[in-house]
Order: sequence, then C-alpha cells, then structure tokens
Amino acid sequence: MERKDIDRRDFIKSLGAIGGGSLLLSSLPQLHLLAQEREKQVKGQKARLAIIGTGSRGMYHINHLLQIPHAEVVALCDIYQPHLDNAAKVFPKAKQYKDYNQAIADPNVDGILIATPLHMHAPISIAGLKAGKHVFCEKSMARTVEQCKEMYDVYKESGKVLYIGIQRLFDPKYLKAIELIKNGTIGQIVGLRNFWYRNNDWRRPVPEPSLERQINWRLYKEYSGGLMTELAAHQLQMGTWVNHSLPDYITGFGDILFWKDGREVYDSVSVIYHYPNGLRMTFESIISNKHYGMDEQVLGHEGTLELAQGLLYMENPKPAPGIQQLINQIEHKVFDNISFAGPSWVPETASSVKGEPIMDHIQTHDGSNTTGATVDDGSLGLVSAYCSSVITGEPIQNLVEEAYYSSVLALLGNKAMEERAVIEFPEEYKIPYSFDA
Ligand SMILES: NC(=O)c1ccc[n+]([C@@H]2O[C@H](COP(=O)([O-])OP(=O)(O)OC[C@H]3O[C@@H](n4cnc5c(N)ncnc54)[C@H](O)[C@@H]3O)[C@@H](O)[C@H]2O)c1
Repeated sequence: MERKDIDRRDFIKSLGAIGGGSLLLSSLPQLHLLAQEREKQVKGQKARLAIIGTGSRGMYHINHLLQIPHAEVVALCDIYQPHLDNAAKVFPKAKQYKDYNQAIADPNVDGILIATPLHMHAPISIAGLKAGKHVFCEKSMARTVEQCKEMYDVYKESGKVLYIGIQRLFDPKYLKAIELIKNGTIGQIVGLRNFWYRNNDWRRPVPEPSLERQINWRLYKEYSGGLMTELAAHQLQMGTWVNHSLPDYITGFGDILFWKDGREVYDSVSVIYHYPNGLRMTFESIISNKHYGMDEQVLGHEGTLELAQGLLYMENPKPAPGIQQLINQIEHKVFDNISFAGPSWVPETASSVKGEPIMDHIQTHDGSNTTGATVDDGSLGLVSAYCSSVITGEPIQNLVEEAYYSSVLALLGNKAMEERAVIEFPEEYKIPYSFDA
C-alpha cells in the first residue's frame, strides 16, 4: 500500500475556509493544527466561561485556562466550599455559585466547562444546552447509555457546541499513529490491546465520614462506572479509529479482587469487544499492580504500534548491516546452540530491535496520575479549541460521536461484566457516524 505522510502546509491548505463554512475533513483531522489555526482566527476575542466542578480535574483545566488568551473565566460553581475557594484563589473576580442552574443562567456566561462526578454530566450538560450555552463536559459522556443518547439528541437539536474531554484526539502522537495505520504501514490489523494498570486504591482522603460518597464518588455505582468509564473510555476509541465499525458482541469479567474496602466498583476488569470482521479489541485494567503501565497496542500483520509510547515495531525490519548481525549473533551465542528436536533455535535479529519513535518530540506519560498527565497529553489543545468554538459557534467534526461511542462501549462493558453475559450492541443506541471517513 502507498505510504503517505500528511504535510503540514498541504494540510493547512486543505482546511480551506476555516470559520467560513463547512470543513472538508476526515473523521480524524489533525486537530491540534486545526486548533492552532482557529486560535489565530479568534485573536482578541474571549470565550466567557463558567467552570462547574472545581475539584482536581476542574483545577487542572483552570490552570490550563490561564494559558489560553481567548478564555475568560467569569463564573465558578461547586457544591463543596473548599474546592470553590481553591478556584477562587486563581480567578478571584469570577462570580461564585453553588447551584449549577444559576451558573448556567448567568448572562455573562457563553459556555460552561463541566468537571463534576460522572452522574452529573448529563443533567448539567442538558441544562446548559437547553439554556443556549455551549458545553464542554469531561469524559465519560454520561453515567448510563440512555443518558448518553439523551445528551446526544439534545445536542443535535440545540445548535450549540458540545465537547467531551477525550484529549487523545488532540495528542499529535495518536494522530500520527492513526495516519500510519490508515496508510497501511502495519498491514491488516489483527489485534487491538488496551490496558491500564495502576497500584493504588483510588481513594481520596475524607475530612469527615459523611463526605465519603461525595469525595470518593468513583468507588460507588450510583455516581461512577468505575474503571470502564474512568479509564477505558479513553482507550476504546481505538475501535472506531482503527476498525471503523462497532463491535457486534461484548463480554468480560470484573471483580473486586484486592481492594475489598467497601467499594462497589471492580478493581480488576477484562473486557473483549468482538467486531463483525473477526477482530477483537480487549481492555484490561488492574489497580493492584502497575508493572505494565498503560498503553494501546495495535497489532498488524506487518507491524505493531504502541500508541501511548509512540513506537512502531516492524515484523520484518530491514536486515541490519552485516557487522551488526555478526555482533548480535555473538551476543546471542548463536554459535553455541544445541540442537533441540530439529533445527537449532537461532535468535532473530528482530528480537533485539527497539521500537522506532513515530515522530520527533514524543511526550509520553504512564497514566498513573488520576487528575491528568503531567506532560501535555492534548488536554490544553482540546480546551483551547473549545474556547475557540465558543467564540465562533463552530463544532469539531465527529468529536461528539467519537466520545459517544467510546462512552457507550465502556458502559456496555460494565453491563456485560455485571450480567456475566455476551451482549450485543443495541440497535437503538446507534447514531449517525461515518466510520469510513
Ligand atoms: N480527561 C481526563 O483525562 C480526566 C482526568 C481526570 C478526571 N476526569 C474527569 O473529570 C471529572 C471530575 O473528576 P475529578 O477527579 O476532578 O473529581 P473531583 O471529585 O475531584 O471533583 C469533582 C467536583 O465536582 C463537584 N461537584 C459535585 N457535584 C456537583 C454539582 N452538582 N454541581 C457543582 N459541582 C459539583 C465536587 O464537589 C468536586 O469538587 C470526572 O468525570 C472524571 O472522569 C477526566
């Protein structure tokens, strides 16, 4: 297959009339470049935002917003006073609210940014969109599949912009990897493996017992989908990016294996997504061993990509120069081999081949931080693009659809584990989306 790298200038040219009309972009445009172009376009203007939920992720965004010239934080909202106070230290002039409806109704607010526990994503997003405000909502989209669909339907009717916090779409190494997959570099895709391992209990300190469920909301099913909605939702985008379709069958097992501390959500999960073409995508997460960290691995017949590391391994790399082969053979004691049931085992040169970085300046992180990566993982670009969209009213193609499907896949994974069943993707939760784009 022909290999073709996207040239930056050609790409920018292909964007055409940015801001003027519709963008003829594929499902995965080079969004970080698009965001830069839109920033130029909105220079001198400000998106006036209300931040709803000023806990750890909310503060992460608040600190990013300080770096975004076209953002102005005019309102802060949280039900928990200590968190509201933290945010007010950064933006002392912003109005403070305890009730999100009041923050949404503030006439100075053009758009809201929601970083509350999962169960509040849908009610606040829907209230925001219905009130005519633009909405950025953290991932996952919502606590239930029904809420995801309702939120999507309200968004489509609203004419407003909706962003969901799936920052991999703004991380250049992911976009580069997808380009390599699309242009055939690793051949036919034969496996998708996602994993996220940590070694901590996921608990936060609680100042008094009555706040346990409010602060440790991640551990209780009423508010959280556990590892699937907190971690898997990011990685399950691989299915739409790589296999351009929806799974037909989903199954898996989940258990509370190690942290038996009264939590309700699994601390160990393995889920399999089966696609109609026979491909399977897996997600595994264990939070009592962190040895393997976090990655998304795309296995092709001709090569393998580790997306979070930005590394490419070819199945049959070009042979090393003769002298390197000789060194490898001596190092591997090829000449000392003993015959074993047939021809002697000869280590292949490929066994010592290191992955090739797929681009310069790859920023990686191990996924251990619960708030967000300490290096830029696309989150800044995503929020900056949202602020541009609040000013122009222009959405980003397929962003909501991508987030919808990764959230729904995460939630269906939970359903399969809870029912200990093989479940099918429900017809009524399919939305228009061009998988071929
Ligand atoms: N995209 C990412 O990489 C990423 C990383 C971390 C967290 N997140 C997401 O961010 C969201 C928040 O996570 P967190 O770790 O910051 O949680 P958190 O508990 O630290 O913060 C949530 C805040 O929302 C407040 N809150 C709860 N109900 C509210 C309501 N009705 N109105 C206003 N405020 C309310 C809480 O008091 C708290 O301050 C979650 O959905 C999580 O999945 C995303």
